[in-house]
Amino acid sequence: MSSTKRRLEGKVAMITGGASGIGEATVKLFVRHGARVIVADLQDEKGTALCAGLGSDDVASYVHCDVRRESDVKRAVDTAISLHGKLDIMFNNAGIIDSSGSSILGEDDTTAVFERVMGVNVLGALLGTKHAGRAMVAAGRGGSIIITASLASVVGSLGHPVYTCSKHAVVGLVRSAAAELGKHGVRVNCVSPAIVVTPMAVSHMQANEEELEALGEVISALKGVMLKAEDIAEAALFLASDESRFVSGHNLMVDGASSVTKII
Ligand SMILES: NC(=O)c1ccc[n+]([C@@H]2O[C@H](COP(=O)([O-])OP(=O)(O)OC[C@H]3O[C@@H](n4cnc5c(N)ncnc54)[C@H](O)[C@@H]3O)[C@@H](O)[C@H]2O)c1
Repeated sequence: MSSTKRRLEGKVAMITGGASGIGEATVKLFVRHGARVIVADLQDEKGTALCAGLGSDDVASYVHCDVRRESDVKRAVDTAISLHGKLDIMFNNAGIIDSSGSSILGEDDTTAVFERVMGVNVLGALLGTKHAGRAMVAAGRGGSIIITASLASVVGSLGHPVYTCSKHAVVGLVRSAAAELGKHGVRVNCVSPAIVVTPMAVSHMQANEEELEALGEVISALKGVMLKAEDIAEAALFLASDESRFVSGHNLMVDGASSVTKII
């Protein structure tokens, strides 16, 4: 930890897609900063083992949750309230890329790809924002809602067309929710990573770890620094903590200036 200050002391956070990759790194960082964390994911074994490894009691709890299903999302938020009496932070991080649908001119079943990708990346974030927002508004103590968008939320030259649509869409969701929930003291932001080597990136971008790292290096204007899941966790920590108490409706790019310089 760069500072000894525990920046989420006393706070309760839910992290969707928390069993792996960026979510997993964020679960670990939030716990180190004093939060009690609910990990919501489909990977029950991985999520349960992660929580068990983080220490005793209720520091981290796993709940099975398919973010596309409203009843699952509602139950996950209810679990946070019944375990800890409140929810301060919602990190809507679950997301997928579909390796089919990589070309707008391709032969894939476009409707099926659209429903799969938008279902997790957009509907999932919308449902998470809705149910966390309702709990936060009802409690009257404000809160912080964060969505993992992507470099593909602002450029069209990276990622699949449907994935790019989905990540542009969550920026609209952030702005809309920031406008509506702001009057209740609830902040809504997103964090946008460039390429991070995670199981999703490796399995769906049809590249091995070395190739992904090389691509990350090529698109970044910032040379000699490799983006890691922990860097996105640090950005989410800022957005979750009171240090960002006047930041809302923002898309925090963690992309080594890829989005504002010429990329491939
Ligand atoms: N890795 C990258 O290069 C990169 C870049 C930009 C944005 N992102 C975004 O980061 C987020 C996290 O991805 P990651 O790279 O850590 O991948 P990951 O595969 O390591 O983690 C994603 C997690 O989401 C979970 N998940 C998938 N569908 C779900 C569902 N329907 N309900 C609940 N959980 C579900 C998975 O089980 C997994 O644990 C995603 O939103 C992704 O789009 C990743």
